[in-house]
Amino acid sequence: MSGRIPQYFIDDLIARADIVELISARVPLKKAGREYRACCPFHDEKTPSFWVSPAKQFYHCFGCGAHGTALGFLMNYDRLPFPEAVEELASRMGLDVPREAPSPGSSPVPRAAGEDLYSLLTEVAAWFREQLARNDKARAYAARRGLDEGSLQRFGIGYAPASWNELLRRFGGTDDGRRRLSEAGLIIERERSADEPQRPGEGWYDRFRDRLMFPIRDARGRVLAFGGRIIDQGEPKYLNSPETSLFHKGRELYGLYEVRQSRAAISRLLVVEGYMDVVRLHQSGIPYAVATLGTATTPEHLKRAFRVASEIIFCFDGDKAGRAAAWRALGNALPEAQAGRQLRFLFLPDGEDPDTLVGKEGAAAFEARYAGALPLSEYLVSHLCAEIDISHADGKAQLVAQAKPLLERLPEGPYRELLLDRLAGTIGVTAQRFLQITGPLAVAQTDPANQPERRPAQRQGLSIGRGGLVRQAMQNLLHFPAIVTRVSAAQRQQLGGLDIPGVPELRQVLDDLAANPAASTAQVLERWRDQPLGERLSRLAGAEMITPHETAAGDELHNAIDKLLADVAAQRLDALLEKSRGSDLSDEEKRELTALMTARPRSG
Ligand code: UTP
Ligand code: MN
Repeated sequence: MSGRIPQYFIDDLIARADIVELISARVPLKKAGREYRACCPFHDEKTPSFWVSPAKQFYHCFGCGAHGTALGFLMNYDRLPFPEAVEELASRMGLDVPREAPSPGSSPVPRAAGEDLYSLLTEVAAWFREQLARNDKARAYAARRGLDEGSLQRFGIGYAPASWNELLRRFGGTDDGRRRLSEAGLIIERERSADEPQRPGEGWYDRFRDRLMFPIRDARGRVLAFGGRIIDQGEPKYLNSPETSLFHKGRELYGLYEVRQSRAAISRLLVVEGYMDVVRLHQSGIPYAVATLGTATTPEHLKRAFRVASEIIFCFDGDKAGRAAAWRALGNALPEAQAGRQLRFLFLPDGEDPDTLVGKEGAAAFEARYAGALPLSEYLVSHLCAEIDISHADGKAQLVAQAKPLLERLPEGPYRELLLDRLAGTIGVTAQRFLQITGPLAVAQTDPANQPERRPAQRQGLSIGRGGLVRQAMQNLLHFPAIVTRVSAAQRQQLGGLDIPGVPELRQVLDDLAANPAASTAQVLERWRDQPLGERLSRLAGAEMITPHETAAGDELHNAIDKLLADVAAQRLDALLEKSRGSDLSDEEKRELTALMTARPRSG
């Protein structure tokens, strides 16, 4: 492994980050007082309960409890693993992420190797573009397919020359170079018998030859793979990169990066089947088209798509193959279906694909077709009913049997309830009766990442017990880290003597903040990420804030510590009094007892 990202860097990153800017690039935020609000991107709602606080560098939804820092937002919304979220945030600020030196004896460096592949793929993509510029035949083909210069540029389209080894010669001069080309899926090893002699480079050949090359890019625009279309006729028509350490077909959507690059406000995505379709749709004024890569739509595709827009339109050919693909897509879409997300199916006239159609009729006429797209529920019902004659009992039973596994793929919730009503309605029974016939529905495996934790907002305490005091102190501290100065070093030390759950942790945080002041909630949380305490702190920070002002929060913290320490004194007093009944106290203990008894009375 390459080294850990040092904590000081994350601290600094969070101190510099602007969570409002980060989130507003993805969710429309409205200013409301000192904070910003929006409809929560993590659950379905009509009235906004999602808040972003610039002071705390923290977001929080009062509806579903989702909350976190800028890094947490990138992890949840863009579904990036932690190191990638750090990279993403850092790259937005033009910072390089430093790494701690790997510990000796640790395994070789997969991450650096990955970075190596990215840069190789980028170089190769540039080289393909040069080849296109040089090759009249390929440029003429692109022109014949209606691709204009702007599209070639925007999508980085290039050309792989008609040669078995031109790429190999250019990039594979060394064993190491060939290994990387092979890992990137750009060259293929020749089969040969064991005794055959081999000169360097001879055992390999270029995967892509005489093809128009479409780079497949990730959310950050890095080239992961290629799709190559044969010039004119030939088999296979399209050749894709194989699965590599960077590229997983079932995950990537061709064009998603370009959709995000377009300046248009994106509220919907159109999912089509082909590279050419995507490019031509963008070119024609539909800059929200993406394609799966010659595979069925996977739930992972859907997850990615719904991160960008709340409305997805699947577009399929009207022919038999198109209909089969659509039904498969429906099956895979079910786990991602929920209220607040719109999923529709658009079928094109037989023999047309989006590329040809938008070329003929233009964007406006094409978009007008969306009116005829079937919502998922309707498509599901009409498809089932088309195949089954439900006018008699057998057919009805068959419909119920076929509907059951589909319903079970839906997450529990209003969407599933409504679909159940629909299905029950088609055979003229109540939902209850329908369920009696199906038997209980299995609970769909819900993806925990999809379900922000729901926790009741903390109730305003009538009287706060000690546990409540500790929690309140911690919460105030999290929201206003600067109030750590209201607790003295002596008080922090005295807390060490207190046997109350949560106090050791409170002391840890107080000590840390005293030594390293933090500017925001987010900065504190990121310091404890991945530590046992981190999860608790994050939850506390996400719980509803009772004290809205720093001064008041400071007073509360001060009073809470006083009360807790009075408890220490009271506990100790009790213990000494108890002891004095049975035995003699030491001189030291006597002095302590006197001091405690003359101190101010215990405060409840
Ligand atoms: P289509 O066969 O519908 O091709 O494949 P198309 O997009 O209309 O292509 P043109 O217009 O003839 O150039 C749709 C998608 O299926 C995958 C590709 O991703 C393609 O874009 N496919 C198709 C392959 O992976 N291999 C193939 O041989 C054919
Ligand atoms: Mn086509």
